Amino acid sequence: MNKPYRVGRSSISGLGLFATKPIRKGARIIRYFGPLLDEKKGKLPPSRYLFGIDDQWTIDGSGRDNLARYINHACEPNAEVDTRIKRKIIVICAIRDIEPGEEIYIHYGREYCAQYLNPCKCVKCVKERIENEERIEKTQLHFLRFPPKRPTPLPLRRFEVKLN
Ligand SMILES: C[S@@+](CC[C@H](N)C(=O)[O-])C[C@H]1O[C@@H](n2cnc3c(N)ncnc32)[C@H](O)[C@@H]1O
Ligand SMILES: [Zn+2]
Repeated sequence: MNKPYRVGRSSISGLGLFATKPIRKGARIIRYFGPLLDEKKGKLPPSRYLFGIDDQWTIDGSGRDNLARYINHACEPNAEVDTRIKRKIIVICAIRDIEPGEEIYIHYGREYCAQYLNPCKCVKCVKERIENEERIEKTQLHFLRFPPKRPTPLPLRRFEVKLN
């Protein structure tokens, strides 16, 4: 069966996963797979492609054939993670209809975002930052055109000596 996605260059970061066919809400898109790492047997290796299943098991998704590893993060994603803990399987599913050409995004979770995505470059965050910048710019323009009046100096009191 032809896959409904391809890997391509992302405007967010490096490579990303893009829909090539319409994907309906609720559809399974891709499985995130790789060797299972047991945290009880040792520390996890440093990698940005690790996907935790539970307290003990983590999938090392760094293999190149695991195309799900290219899915970027968005704060308003169009897909989500379905973790089947008993079978130790992670599947990415659409949470709304996705049109061909759209990039597929999941939410990485607050902890990952705070530690590794600073700043987040998703569409929502970039738009918010631009709007904030514009708001600051407008405020500055307002103050340049209508500078706040300087407070009138208080009259000198009789015992003060004015120099010059
Ligand atoms: C699992 S990889 C995703 C695929 C990656 N773009 C690549 O080319 O291999 C996760 C990494 O992608 C980048 N990334 C993903 N989503 C991002 C976002 N919203 N903002 C900034 N960087 C992001 C970060 O470097 C993150 O550590
Ligand atoms: Zn974001």
